Amino acid sequence: MLAFGSNGWPVADFETYLNDKTILICGTETCFAVFRLVGSEAEILTVSSHPDVQGRGGATTMFRNALNALKSLSIQVVFLEVADNNTAAIALYDRAGFLKFNTRHNYYTNGVSAICMKAVLSPRSGV
Ligand SMILES: CC(C)(COP(=O)(O)OP(=O)(O)OC[C@H]1O[C@@H](n2cnc3c(N)ncnc32)[C@H](O)[C@@H]1OP(=O)(O)O)[C@@H](O)C(=O)NCCC(=O)NCCS
Repeated sequence: MLAFGSNGWPVADFETYLNDKTILICGTETCFAVFRLVGSEAEILTVSSHPDVQGRGGATTMFRNALNALKSLSIQVVFLEVADNNTAAIALYDRAGFLKFNTRHNYYTNGVSAICMKAVLSPRSGV
């Protein structure tokens, strides 16, 4: 929860995720990703790394492992949206092979726009 700062992610949401069979949570003690699985597609609900370990590559490694787990579940495409001012998250997604396909202007309540990204999971592409 610390990673989200003033944009806190409600604890109740995570309690709901634990009982939701469409939700996959991958991670370690310090960073995790939450996915919703629908058929051969997945949506990233959030990715988080504890502030004490950010910038050390932990989320990158965790995310690579999470995408491999999705591949093993026959997920073919992964979607996400991210605030266009979230430099750290966009760097993480870029490196993992996600490509931007849309911008939703003024998407968040604070007026920030969202970038929509997707990755096609393929054994050959390395994503
Ligand atoms: C996004 C987040 C998960 C990245 O976690 P992390 O453990 O720092 O990630 P890594 O150490 O693997 O680094 C990922 C990339 O982000 C960069 N990065 C990390 N912190 C950064 C910062 N404050 N500003 C700019 N880039 C940053 C890293 O340098 C790396 O990119 P590079 O190798 O090209 O330099 C983390 O910043 C976080 O939890 N943020 C708050 C929650 C959030 O915004 N989640 C995303 C919601 S869509």
